[in-house]
Amino acid sequence: MLLAVVTADAAAQYQGWLIPPGGRDERSPVTSARSAATKGKALFAANCARCHGPEGKGNGTDSDHAADLTDDLRSSINPEGVLFYKVWNGHAVQLRVQIDDMPAFKDTLTRDDVWALVEHLKVLRTTTR
Ligand code: HEC
Repeated sequence: MLLAVVTADAAAQYQGWLIPPGGRDERSPVTSARSAATKGKALFAANCARCHGPEGKGNGTDSDHAADLTDDLRSSINPEGVLFYKVWNGHAVQLRVQIDDMPAFKDTLTRDDVWALVEHLKVLRTTTR
């Protein structure tokens, strides 16, 4: 019974997002964080900045509710495995079906690309505080 409650809590934290079992604990496979982050920065400018803004502050022109990716509270609930799957699967269970909701990138980017983006997001968190 207690376990069911705990599980429900964990699911509620990621409501609408598809994080597979064990996904939260997945670690970035990149060997050089620095070169991956450089690649991730270019991918971010091309795919993400229009909604999240150039620094990931959530102030891009194409969405009025894109998340601030540098936010401290969000950083603590979004370890790298969660970041990966939020980008890979998008906001899978759409609460609002809006054109400016978080899209899935699994059809347009590779897993390596998305891990590179995760490395860039980690840099954004440390440089824009
Ligand atoms: C069309 C606009 C749009 C684009 C493009 C977009 N996002 Fe998002 N993103 C959102 C919105 C809006 C949210 C907030 C959740 C929601 O409503 O879907 C979000 C949420 C997120 C989150 C979860 C933040 C949290 O704390 O839960 C991450 C991580 C993220 N985006 C990363 C990215 C990355 C990386 C890219 C580029 C590969 C990207 N996004 C492209 C609109 C966008």
